[in-house]
Amino acid sequence: MEIKQAEFVSSVTDVKQLKGKPLPEFAFIGRSNVGKSSLINMLTNRKTLAKVSGTPGKTQTINHFIINGAWYLVDLPGYGFASVSKDTHQTFGKIIDNYIRESEKLFFVFVLIDIRLEPQKIDLSFLEWGGTNEIPLGIIFTKADKLSAAKVNRHVDRYSQELLKRWDELPPIFVTSSTQKKGRDEVLSFIEKALPRVTKK
Ligand code: GTP
Ligand code: MG
Repeated sequence: MEIKQAEFVSSVTDVKQLKGKPLPEFAFIGRSNVGKSSLINMLTNRKTLAKVSGTPGKTQTINHFIINGAWYLVDLPGYGFASVSKDTHQTFGKIIDNYIRESEKLFFVFVLIDIRLEPQKIDLSFLEWGGTNEIPLGIIFTKADKLSAAKVNRHVDRYSQELLKRWDELPPIFVTSSTQKKGRDEVLSFIEKALPRVTKK
C-alpha cells in the first residue's frame, strides 16, 4: 500500500468524543515504550506524525490518523503501569478498556511486543482479554534491529510456543524495526488486504 495521505485527526480520551467518517480503525497497542509511535511514523513515512519519547507514558490519549482517506490508524496509550489484576480497567487503563469495548469501527488490533523480552504476563493477558472480547488481533514484534537475525527467529518461536499453550492457532505475526524500516511492507499489505473485507460490511 502506498501512503498518499497520513493526517492527524483527533486526540480523545473517550470514544464518545469521536467524530468523523465511519471508516475502519486499525489500532496499535502495547506496553509503554515498546515503540508504537515510532512504528506509526515508520509505516506512514512521516518523521513526527506520532510523538516519540524516551520516557514511558508519552501517549496518553486515543490518537486517530486518517490514511489515504480510507482508514484510521489509531495510536493508543501504553499499558503496563499498573500490575496485572482481574480488573481490566486497572490493568490496561480505563481509556483502553472503554475504547476496545465500545468503538464501533475498531476492526483490528496490532499488539506490539519488544522482540528482546521473554513473554510478559501483561501482554499475554491483553491478548487473552482481546480474544475473549472477540477482537481480531495480530502481533507486531518491535526493535528487531537490537538482536541478531538468529535470535529474532528464536524469540519469535519462543513466543509462538507460549501462545500455542492457550490458542489453537497463531495470530498474524510481524517482525519490525522502525530504525531499519523493517516489516513495513508486510504490515501495510496486511491492512490493504483486510480493507475491502471491512468496507463491504
Ligand atoms: P509510549 O507512547 O510512551 O507508550 O511509547 P511508545 O510505545 O509510543 O514508544 P516510542 O515510539 O515513543 O519509542 C520508545 C523508545 O524506543 C524511543 O526511544 C525510540 O527511539 C525507541 N524505539 C522505538 N522503535 C525502535 C526500533 O525499532 N529500534 C530501536 N533501536 N529503537 C526503537
Ligand atoms: Mg507513543
